[in-house]
Amino acid sequence: MSAPLAPEIPRREIVHAAAILRAGGLVAFPTETVYGLGADAENEAAVRGIFSAKGRPADHPVIVHLEEAADIARWSNHIPPLAWRLAEKFWPGPLTLILPRSSRATDVVTGGLPTVGLRVPSHAVAQALLREFGGALAAPSANRFGRVSPTRAEHVREEFAGDVPFILDGGLCEVGLESTIVDFSGDGPAILRPGAITHEQVEATCGQTLRSPQSSTTRFSGGLESHYAPRALVEIVEPHELHRRAAELVKQGKKVAILGQPSLNVPAGTELIHLGNDASSQARSLYAALRKVDELGCDVALACPPAPLGLGVALLDRLQKAAGPRG
Ligand code: TXA
Ligand code: MG
Repeated sequence: MSAPLAPEIPRREIVHAAAILRAGGLVAFPTETVYGLGADAENEAAVRGIFSAKGRPADHPVIVHLEEAADIARWSNHIPPLAWRLAEKFWPGPLTLILPRSSRATDVVTGGLPTVGLRVPSHAVAQALLREFGGALAAPSANRFGRVSPTRAEHVREEFAGDVPFILDGGLCEVGLESTIVDFSGDGPAILRPGAITHEQVEATCGQTLRSPQSSTTRFSGGLESHYAPRALVEIVEPHELHRRAAELVKQGKKVAILGQPSLNVPAGTELIHLGNDASSQARSLYAALRKVDELGCDVALACPPAPLGLGVALLDRLQKAAGPRG
């Protein structure tokens, strides 16, 4: 009945992870988007543990992960028909719905907001863990606050060096960018964070034009200007400017990385870090590429803007966040 697990995850590891969660501990687990750092969503002390592990401000809400769509009725007391429609169409999958919360969702989970973020992940390991645990998992991305999300188990290990949580290693995350967040707290749906479920797909499924989000009504870490950032500075440059800018930086004594297609011709003295040839492989490899920039000790990473269509919107959003002003 159950979906087969990735071969590297024996069932006893899932059972062990579920036991850790029941005891109020943290488990890092793969989803189709990025790795999450999970805790029992109904155990406030456990959820607080996520915040301290990440170094994340306590007023930031976390997404509640559920095994199946029907479970949202336990976490929200008002589910508009369009939210059900999106849930039916895209779950399990890389979509998060922001809905009015029920009393089950505490302030620790929602950051004190009247809403809760809910998502049913499709990754077989996430599904197996949710099934074995038998409850809901509060889980942000398994990285330190403000840093690049992990798309491989070893990224999680690097993030929490010295204080590594139990990690279920499910290999590379297929999507590579965080879920699309659709907000139902206002008058009609709005996209708060673009992802693999595109604006066009959400609009077509809802059969209506999406509202533009009001930044004042939301408080979400992905909404901060600088986020998803490596240590190196990131600059987005138009293709015709790439060589000039790279050469200029090299001349200034900077170690320069260029994120681009394998076929890209780059100036001498720069490091080419491969992103794929199409938007989905670029999305899958972007965060690993940003980590590589730091591993190579580069000062600056240059990337050309993807076309803002389909998945390109999410890619551009994450590049812009990585290139945003630093605090
Ligand atoms: O793909 C994903 O969504 C991954 C995987 C692990 O599921 N999770 C993830 O979590 O990206 P996190 O915490 O890194 O980002 C979740 C975003 C944050 O920006 C958070 O503020 C926002 O969702 N969020 C959660 N609940 C919210 C709410 N009630 N209202 C507005 N934003 C909310
Ligand atoms: Mg995050």
